[in-house]
Amino acid sequence: MCGIVGYIGKADAPTVLINGLRRLEYRGYDSAGIAILDEGRIVVSKAPGKVSVLNEQARSAWPAARFDRCTTGIAHTRWATHGPPTEVNAHPHLDQSGEIAMVHNGIIENYRSLRVRLEAKGHQFHSETDTEVLVHLIGEYDRGDLFQAVCDALHQVEGTFGIAVLSAREPGKIITARRGSPIIIGVGDGETIIASDAAAILAHTQRVIYLDDNDIAVVTAESVDIRDLHNIPVTREIAELDMDAAAAGKGGFDHFMLKEIHEQPDSLGNAIRGRLDFNQGSSVLAGMGTSQRELAELRRVVLIGCGTSLYAGLVGEFAFEDLADIHAEVQQAAEFRYRNPILGSRDLVIAISQSGETADTLAAVREAKQKGAFVMSLCNVVGSTIARETGRGVYLHAGPEISVASTKAFTCQVAVLLMMALKLGRGRRFSRDDGMRFAKEIENTPALVGRVIQQNARIAEIAAAYAHHEHAFFIGRGPMYPVAMEGALKLKEISYIHAEGFHAAELKHGPIALLVQGTPIIAIACDIPGKSKTLGNIEECRARGARILGIVTEGDDEAAASMDDFITIPRCHPLVATIPAVVALQLLAYHIARLRGCEIDQPRNLAKSVTVE
Ligand code: F6R
Repeated sequence: MCGIVGYIGKADAPTVLINGLRRLEYRGYDSAGIAILDEGRIVVSKAPGKVSVLNEQARSAWPAARFDRCTTGIAHTRWATHGPPTEVNAHPHLDQSGEIAMVHNGIIENYRSLRVRLEAKGHQFHSETDTEVLVHLIGEYDRGDLFQAVCDALHQVEGTFGIAVLSAREPGKIITARRGSPIIIGVGDGETIIASDAAAILAHTQRVIYLDDNDIAVVTAESVDIRDLHNIPVTREIAELDMDAAAAGKGGFDHFMLKEIHEQPDSLGNAIRGRLDFNQGSSVLAGMGTSQRELAELRRVVLIGCGTSLYAGLVGEFAFEDLADIHAEVQQAAEFRYRNPILGSRDLVIAISQSGETADTLAAVREAKQKGAFVMSLCNVVGSTIARETGRGVYLHAGPEISVASTKAFTCQVAVLLMMALKLGRGRRFSRDDGMRFAKEIENTPALVGRVIQQNARIAEIAAAYAHHEHAFFIGRGPMYPVAMEGALKLKEISYIHAEGFHAAELKHGPIALLVQGTPIIAIACDIPGKSKTLGNIEECRARGARILGIVTEGDDEAAASMDDFITIPRCHPLVATIPAVVALQLLAYHIARLRGCEIDQPRNLAKSVTVE
């Protein structure tokens, strides 16, 4: 989704800003722009399409000296919400005087009424965006104190924002603020970098300040002064970033997605390390911040998330019920606060989010807290809004996930959910021996995934038989049902093949009508309870001409013989098997998308972190 970079320091700001935008490309966007301060004037360059287009445009239109002498600017990648991705709608936007520039993430919900008000005062707008309205409002309030003008304007707006504002009348500073959309300030040596995502800061410094909602900061090359919207100073700690620049590169792989799939033995190792207690047959998850007694008193677990994180939650639902005998349910985060969730202090709500910034999940977290539930998070991005607002939870430690399609976050989410369920299970039905056996199974997940990755070349060959279809159906049952849905999501988002995940038993209740000669059915038919029924469902598909690709357990010749093609996963506990099974589907989706010539890391229309509801 949209990305912000701001820079004030001693380096060539246009280059720093464009490099920063490149670091944010993975988030998904459709236009880009930059505004810099040059000899007392704001100079803007914007372009639809990629950051490389913006770079070429700025370098050919601007004199080389401008790159050398400009040390202050703001830049943006836009994921269109209000108006199509044209040059005029791209950020930065200028106020009426042309002396104030602003970039903005989020949505100003009352922009229409503000626009009418400003038009009545003679303001002329060039774009269809809500952002242009906000910068005009700032200009309207500016009486020589930009900070105060931004405060006054932000008091008027409803909605969400992360902004960076630059004024030709007050050089030497950038004003930045947030409500519901992240802003991180990198504190360098004689330079300060503002960004909506740590990836744009990494190359400069590891020392960062995370703004909280309704914080507004005056940033110079040497200082960061943070206040609230009533001009009262607030203190925010400087934190160390938990990632390095190398982790944000492709490391020799053709795509971030392939790199991240291959990283899974390591990322799982990091997610698990130090968290299994083989002596007690349990797990040690200090971030949960609960006593064994509080856990024993829990009545219900509610898992919330969106997309891939939602599907990880569905695996978690099986785990909490199977291992801990506790009622568990999954709720789609966007719906949560609109449906009067019945919650109390004995309900554990687990918000699952790779980015920790998903607006729907964040809104659900706030609702759950308001209702007095016991709320915790399962995030990957350290210091993200959801992680901070829940205050307790478990980090994935999967490392930065750059590819828009989530891979290693899913497997780590499942691994952590299994550890959470194990912890709860030990307070309930699990004996120490049961716990030790299950802990061993979790410990083994990196090796299980490694065995699937070894089949990469074979999976690439199998993909060729499926890449030319326009529809594909994934089936599974038990914990493999969410795996089927996640496999379908991976395929549709990166290859643009219409793919659906169905419960294997549900096919005959309708979807089977879609099958024609050659329709691909991807069946997750590993050797877990219910397998024989899934094999029966496969025969029903075959009888209607479908081509079957099975995910089967190593050595299960009966299942393999039922398939036209198959990929194996090692024999393991049915819940643990979701992890290698999904890796097989990630590789399948990747190779199909590659064969179709798709832009794998940045699929059309998608954003890495979805900060609008
Ligand atoms: C799919 C994908 C999305 C995200 C969803 C939630 O590959 O990445 O479906 O899972 O947008 O994002 P997070 O986990 O950041 O809350």
